[in-house]
Amino acid sequence: MSNTLNIEKHPLTKQRVFKKKNIKKFYIETLGCQMNVADSELIIAMLNNEGFIKSESPQNSDLIFINTCSIRERAEEKVHSQLGRWDKIKKNKPEVIIGVLGCMAQNLKQDILENRPFVDIVLGPDSYRKLPEIIKRSINDEESIVDTKLSRYEVYEGLFPKRKGGVNAWISIMRGCDKFCTFCIVPFTRGRERSRNIDSIVKEAEDAVYNGFRELTLLGQNVNSFKYNDYKFHDLLEIISQISGVDRIRYTSPHPQDISDELLDIMQKYDNICNYIHLPLQSGSDKILKRMHRSYSKDDFLSLAKKIRQTLPGVGISTDIIVGFPGETEEDFLETISVMEDVKFDSAFNFKYSPRIGTKASEYEDQILETIKQKRLEKVINLQKEHSILRNKKLIGSTQTILVEKQSKMSPDHWAGRTDSNKWVIFSKGKVKLNEMVKVSILDSKGVSLKGELVSEVKAA
Ligand code: SAH
Ligand code: SF4
Ligand code: F3S
Repeated sequence: MSNTLNIEKHPLTKQRVFKKKNIKKFYIETLGCQMNVADSELIIAMLNNEGFIKSESPQNSDLIFINTCSIRERAEEKVHSQLGRWDKIKKNKPEVIIGVLGCMAQNLKQDILENRPFVDIVLGPDSYRKLPEIIKRSINDEESIVDTKLSRYEVYEGLFPKRKGGVNAWISIMRGCDKFCTFCIVPFTRGRERSRNIDSIVKEAEDAVYNGFRELTLLGQNVNSFKYNDYKFHDLLEIISQISGVDRIRYTSPHPQDISDELLDIMQKYDNICNYIHLPLQSGSDKILKRMHRSYSKDDFLSLAKKIRQTLPGVGISTDIIVGFPGETEEDFLETISVMEDVKFDSAFNFKYSPRIGTKASEYEDQILETIKQKRLEKVINLQKEHSILRNKKLIGSTQTILVEKQSKMSPDHWAGRTDSNKWVIFSKGKVKLNEMVKVSILDSKGVSLKGELVSEVKAA
């Protein structure tokens, strides 16, 4: 990682026709996790402040950005194919500036520069403050600009995001990760853990509520490792829950290791903190958990899940599972199945292990065959479907409070919104509007979502 703003010569830029003085419109595509969504909102705000206008199409834009993700190979492939399409745009319009931002920029800068010479700007996740200045330089200089230096301090204090309208506001409270799970690229792409100043988080939360957002989601790669002076994550959660007008608070992604008793108590105490926890398991085998550097055993995880269900009745628990981690035998895999059977997660994100260059696990010699990974993945997906249906069915006959979030993909006459426990419910629109809280009686469970019927409106937006 370089310590200075690295400027590298770039063969194609010499052919640029410099009409760029009038640059106005930018397009940004966001891949990856919610942290990237929140970062793109910061970038949009910054560019708006500089007079650039956001456009919905790359073809009509003078600046085209992609905010990238490196978590699995598939995520990176998406970026390569998108850049292939943008190369064509640039061939027709050489003055266009193309920028690769985010986690992949960090890790693949060399590859991008060597194999994608039409890319003008490569910026890692801690360098966005420099974007306006870099765009100006890129307009005037015929060179591509790379800055992927990671910072120990950057939390984008003093910058506030430009959010799309909607019901949920993402609020980034910490960045980076120090846990170094052996499969994961995040500590390398995002750098060291650092937390934001509590006052500025509260101000951002108050602003979001003032601007009509009813739901706030606190974000961080390890959200519950938040620590600012003497404040821990549960303290912050309590402070946010007391801001007037906050109807719903969620947070993601927590690490099981940092789910404290105090956190569960605060969740139990405040109605506006959603009754939902994402509890990434990764594997149920002690041997694999150790090799993953996950700091908990199968039994620790099972006791934690039990404690959560006891402390927070009706809680929704979701998880992340990786199959085919190096050295995973059939017995190890069955341990994962056994945890799934025991906890019966409400939902799960299931992944085949994807080796990431630079991580420890990618160097292990006992990598698993793709065919075996695929079979195991299908097994966990099918089992999870059964569990999700089972959990959803328990809600049939109950009345749930739903925040109306969007039109259902199935029908223009139906809304979709989530329960407090993070389950999607589809119901006929009636007279209610987006962003309203309504009571819905749950009639049926269909696939992984629920079908309901409007009972009454709870609170107008
Ligand atoms: N900080 C969170 C997870 C962030 S990454 C946590 O610790 O739980 C989101 C998920 O992507 C991880 O939980 C893991 O299941 C998955 N993942 C990360 N690296 C991966 C890899 N190399 N291959 C497959 N899945 C991976
Ligand atoms: Fe990756 Fe582990 Fe950090 Fe999560 S805790 S971001 S899985 S290294
Ligand atoms: Fe991807 Fe970076 Fe998020 S690697 S999952 S965008 S932190």
